[in-house]
Amino acid sequence: MYRQIAPSSTLLLNEQSAAIEKNGRQVFRFGFGQSPFPISPVLEQALIQNSYRKEYTQVQGLEALRIKVAEYHSAFEKRPVSADQVFIAPGSKALLYTIMCAYTDAAVLIPAPAWVSYAPQAELLGHAAFMMQTSFEQRYRISPEILEQTLIEAAQKYKNLLVVLNSPGNPDGLCYSEQELQALTLVLNKFQAKVISDEIYAPLKHDNQHVSIAKHYPQGTFVTSGLSKWAGAGGWRLGIAILPENCDAQLKDSMLGIASETYSCASSPIQYAAITAYSDNKIMQQYVKNKRTILSAIGAQVYKAVIDAGLNAHAPEGGFYILLDFTGYQQTLKGLGISKDTEICSKVLEDTGVALLPGISFGLPSESLCARLAYVDFDGKQALEDINQHGWSLSLTDKHSQKMLTGIKNLGSYLKQL
Ligand SMILES: Cc1ncc(COP(=O)(O)O)c(C=O)c1O
Repeated sequence: MYRQIAPSSTLLLNEQSAAIEKNGRQVFRFGFGQSPFPISPVLEQALIQNSYRKEYTQVQGLEALRIKVAEYHSAFEKRPVSADQVFIAPGSKALLYTIMCAYTDAAVLIPAPAWVSYAPQAELLGHAAFMMQTSFEQRYRISPEILEQTLIEAAQKYKNLLVVLNSPGNPDGLCYSEQELQALTLVLNKFQAKVISDEIYAPLKHDNQHVSIAKHYPQGTFVTSGLSKWAGAGGWRLGIAILPENCDAQLKDSMLGIASETYSCASSPIQYAAITAYSDNKIMQQYVKNKRTILSAIGAQVYKAVIDAGLNAHAPEGGFYILLDFTGYQQTLKGLGISKDTEICSKVLEDTGVALLPGISFGLPSESLCARLAYVDFDGKQALEDINQHGWSLSLTDKHSQKMLTGIKNLGSYLKQL
């Protein structure tokens, strides 16, 4: 008897894409959401200088790093954060799991669409996962009414209520506004629910105006983030979590126990190097600013192309994803016997080489006909060199979006002739 955990849909997509490329055809890799940018040379140097470190660190994370993370997040979230509240781990995924694992008798409420791992993690831990559906019209944001209804339902059976929020969002690239977060806070507070606010894409919010729910609900919010997206260092496995303000000592002890019995600590050379990432230095700031400029310009261009292709979408606000809605082609697709997102993605990949991830991977009903496009199919190293040399311009947006625009245009022509 084994646990039933479905293999990740990205792996399946990669296999299918590889088979197409093997046959000499071009694949537009819009399925896999990995940062296209290289690591900043200052961070790379910091890692080289610390490669000799071999000791385990404190389970909670190196104190010098926690101090820097606390300073960074105090400024970023516009609220006081102390080093005692900070947890460091090999990736924020490990921290999401550790936080959920600390609770017994828990319901985990997840707005859909949602990043792929929240629900499987909750289920692995034996928690009940409550998916809360959103819609295109609601910009895929959860409303206070649905949140309240679901909390009422969950509170009837479970003592601890954990709500996951993700802003900017994967797979939709959209953010909660300050007013929306305030309205959600009123409901969360009423139920004394905790929120796990996954803000891993926050420094890549295109307009650099991220708002964290922690500013309004510091006593009930866990913030998770790390180096994977804004520092482009997913494989370094460095995640951070900020515990709720004045949280009870038992929660922290529980998390420390879970961490020490599973991953022990994040790699020490990486933790020492991460001090540079979280320090107030001009080079890192410029590096992240450049990425925001590039992603914002490319995201806007991609959005325009998606609309021209006859698909519905909202202009992305942060990170590097846009959620495509194929319902404009619903009748045509129905005529071809296609009524599911998985069928669309597989047919589109086969016939046009465009690789997308179906909405069902993100908890959407298959019939909602959505798919995620990651606008990362460009040379991030070259884009950073170009912006450093010349500043950003429309012609650079065109140069770097070219392959993606070709793919989306092909997709549009294909859909229109069906
Ligand atoms: C929304 C979201 N949260 C968390 C993660 C996991 O990040 P980490 O590399 O810190 O484990 C990802 C990675 O794709 C993500 O997209």
